[in-house]
Amino acid sequence: MALGKERVCVTGAGGFVGSWVVKLLLSKDYFVHGTVREPSYYLLYVLLSISEIAKIGLCSNSICAKIILFILTLGDEKNAHLYKLEKASENLKLFKADLLDYNSVYSAIVGCSGVFHVASPVPSTIVEVIEPAVKGTLNVLKASVEAKVKRVVFVSSGAAVAFNPSWPKDRVMDETCWSDKEYCRTTKNWYSFAKTEAESEALEYGKRPGLNVVSICPTFIFGPILQSTLNASSMILVKLLKEEGCESVDNRLRMIVDVRDVAEASVLLYEKPEVEGRYICTAYGCRGQELVDKLKSIYPNYIYPTNFTEGGEEIVLTSAKLQNLGWSYRPLEETLFDSIESYKKAGILD
Ligand SMILES: NC(=O)c1ccc[n+]([C@@H]2O[C@H](COP(=O)([O-])OP(=O)(O)OC[C@H]3O[C@@H](n4cnc5c(N)ncnc54)[C@H](OP(=O)(O)O)[C@@H]3O)[C@@H](O)[C@H]2O)c1
Repeated sequence: MALGKERVCVTGAGGFVGSWVVKLLLSKDYFVHGTVREPSYYLLYVLLSISEIAKIGLCSNSICAKIILFILTLGDEKNAHLYKLEKASENLKLFKADLLDYNSVYSAIVGCSGVFHVASPVPSTIVEVIEPAVKGTLNVLKASVEAKVKRVVFVSSGAAVAFNPSWPKDRVMDETCWSDKEYCRTTKNWYSFAKTEAESEALEYGKRPGLNVVSICPTFIFGPILQSTLNASSMILVKLLKEEGCESVDNRLRMIVDVRDVAEASVLLYEKPEVEGRYICTAYGCRGQELVDKLKSIYPNYIYPTNFTEGGEEIVLTSAKLQNLGWSYRPLEETLFDSIESYKKAGILD
């Protein structure tokens, strides 16, 4: 697969994971089409992207163009972090798209040779997550076929792996383990149900000639936020630093991975010709109490929870398949430190 200055689409570009995927792709010289749902000034942004400005002679140098873009982004706080990424002014184009609106999805994908399908609603308890996750994914795949995309990297989740009561208790979960949809349904775990259904549909779709689909299944993702609002997984960490939001903490083992390592893995899966199927992306197993102890050793002055609830199943997943491709991950302490520093910078811990 050709590298550099290739055009790729990232759905959910403004979210926690999407922003890091966009940032990494820009740093690798890709031209990125990012989908967002509410760009305030996206029309003007598109009209006045650097190349167009130069073409119609509104502005003759890039400093002037950057000033115009800066002014345009003032009203779009939700996506302001994207406009600020290095090379965004030259190589990032935002598209307004909702996963359930096929035409908007197609407009963002056409002209791209690859798609990173990151967008999906994340709350776990509401049944409404199913339609955008499943039908939205089918829209992305259909548009990818129509636009003659070569490869789609589908961001699934460890939630599509781990909820399987038939899996032997003493066996580490690998890519052959799928969450049991019926079990997810009866336990009303709609997020896991939706991700399992969407991922299996996506891999099935990828068996058609012409389109190649691979999936990545990250476990809990922590790490620095680029966006200004807090996503669901980062909220878990923030709650640990504010005891009032967290009376008692589940002490079960949580499998954790850094958002920057997820972005690296996603791009690796796009670039390596030989990849196929699904890839679990995880780094550390850590209990609630261990997590609190680690945070305490770096930041002793926050008010941490002191009650921990035991019980529940131990779920351990392995990333051996991904590591065999050359993927590696950073130390957990680095993830925690950079996460907290980013929350402080965003004023979330004030
Ligand atoms: N964070 C984790 O721990 C974790 C773990 C495993 C897998 N994942 C997966 O990673 C992906 C990104 O999650 P995240 O943690 O980055 O959460 P996030 O920050 O909430 O990002 C979710 C993104 O999906 C977009 N989206 C939701 N519904 C949409 C729709 N109907 N049409 C278009 N866009 C829609 C959101 O757009 P708006 O900004 O407009 O709402 C947002 O950009 C998801 O597929 C999630 O399942 C996350």
